[in-house]
Amino acid sequence: MKVLVVGSGGREHALVEKISQSRKLSKIYVAPGNGGIEDIAEVVNIKADEIEKLADFAAENEIDLTIVGPEAPLVKGVVDLFQERNLRIFGPNKKAASLEASKVFTKELCRKYNIPTAGYMVFDDPKKAKAYIDKCDKPQVVKADGLAAGKGVVVAADRCEAKKAVDLMMQDKAFGDAGKRITVEERLYGEEVSILVLCDGDNICPLATSQDHKQIYDEDRGPNTGGMGAYSPAPIIDDGLYDEIMRDIIRPTINALKEEGINYKGVLYAGLMMTDDGPRLLEYNVRFGDPETQAVLTRIESDFLEALEATVDGKLDEIEIKWDKRSCICVVIASGGYPGSYEKGKEITGLNKAAKQKDVIVYHAGTKKESNKFYTSGGRVLGVTALGDDIAQAIDKAYKAVELIFFDKMYYRKDIGRKAVSR
Ligand code: AMP
Ligand code: GLY
Repeated sequence: MKVLVVGSGGREHALVEKISQSRKLSKIYVAPGNGGIEDIAEVVNIKADEIEKLADFAAENEIDLTIVGPEAPLVKGVVDLFQERNLRIFGPNKKAASLEASKVFTKELCRKYNIPTAGYMVFDDPKKAKAYIDKCDKPQVVKADGLAAGKGVVVAADRCEAKKAVDLMMQDKAFGDAGKRITVEERLYGEEVSILVLCDGDNICPLATSQDHKQIYDEDRGPNTGGMGAYSPAPIIDDGLYDEIMRDIIRPTINALKEEGINYKGVLYAGLMMTDDGPRLLEYNVRFGDPETQAVLTRIESDFLEALEATVDGKLDEIEIKWDKRSCICVVIASGGYPGSYEKGKEITGLNKAAKQKDVIVYHAGTKKESNKFYTSGGRVLGVTALGDDIAQAIDKAYKAVELIFFDKMYYRKDIGRKAVSR
């Protein structure tokens, strides 16, 4: 099979790596890829959101299956376009991608079908939003309705901060049209987990549980990022809790979408808060998580390309994924300054040495390769990933490998996975 993977992050490196292990694969392309993926796939110089060009490429090169990493092309309708042209593609269509593209869409779906989530109000008038916040006696979370590259959510400490967030989104238009409408939600407390499942429209195939580390600093302090590290499995989720999440959140969502005339095909990623009252949905993403994917996919022992094909073909009931029982963690190394502004073009050393460590794999994200040397080219640069007999051993291996890598102003959290160890 000829496969095209769309995207350029650590998630896409992990996808390409895992798909490359398939016995069915004959050739793999990536558009546009990064410095590290270049070594294992043929790079195509098309950006992830240039969906017409992607379709032309897939048609001209007789690609058997295209797999989409990031949300932007999905929300733009890349799946609908490919399907119109009879090209096989993995991912939800534009309507289904509303689950990620619009917080209001998802919240309204949850309310209509009794899917447990935080209480909320929707506003398109900043005055009314602020008047509502003035009357709230509990902390609130303010969210831009549309896509805002992970920055459109403010977990406000008090009313003043919440009202500032309203102004930022609605008056200063910090996120453009994405902030024309907002939700104001009740703040939930607990530990967060990521549940990823494959869904073929009917059948659901669970992937291993994982936990992200969203904040930039140790002990979950500082501003949110795309994710500074992840581990899998997440021991906070036992079998009973997993079944509850499937029964009360994931399955009802797939059924609700169907009621609304939407057939969900692809990977569904639920961000959940484990509250004292049980699991609550924070958000849905319609794609693989980054860096969760690096920790989850590394543990897959079966042919993952077969599972992706079964998703597209509506045959997930015929698939069972085999998992490496060991734990896996991914430590993200970022450019100093991220998630704010940061410098690029720093030479990265020690990559070969790190990659040679047993049970370690270094996924590239913001890297560029020039004359056989690697340079930084983004905020999140690398995802140093390791397997261990338990989470403590995985942490030890990953951080030993991290210490072999160097670039000017590199930054990483020192506490990835610690929560799982204390559990
Ligand atoms: P979202 O994009 O909606 O998942 O929000 C991004 C992050 O904001 C989440 O991963 C949580 O850390 C936090 N968050 C979102 N909604 C809430 C909520 N209702 N209560 C507490 N934290 C939240
Ligand atoms: N790790 C968070 C995300 O992929 O959205």
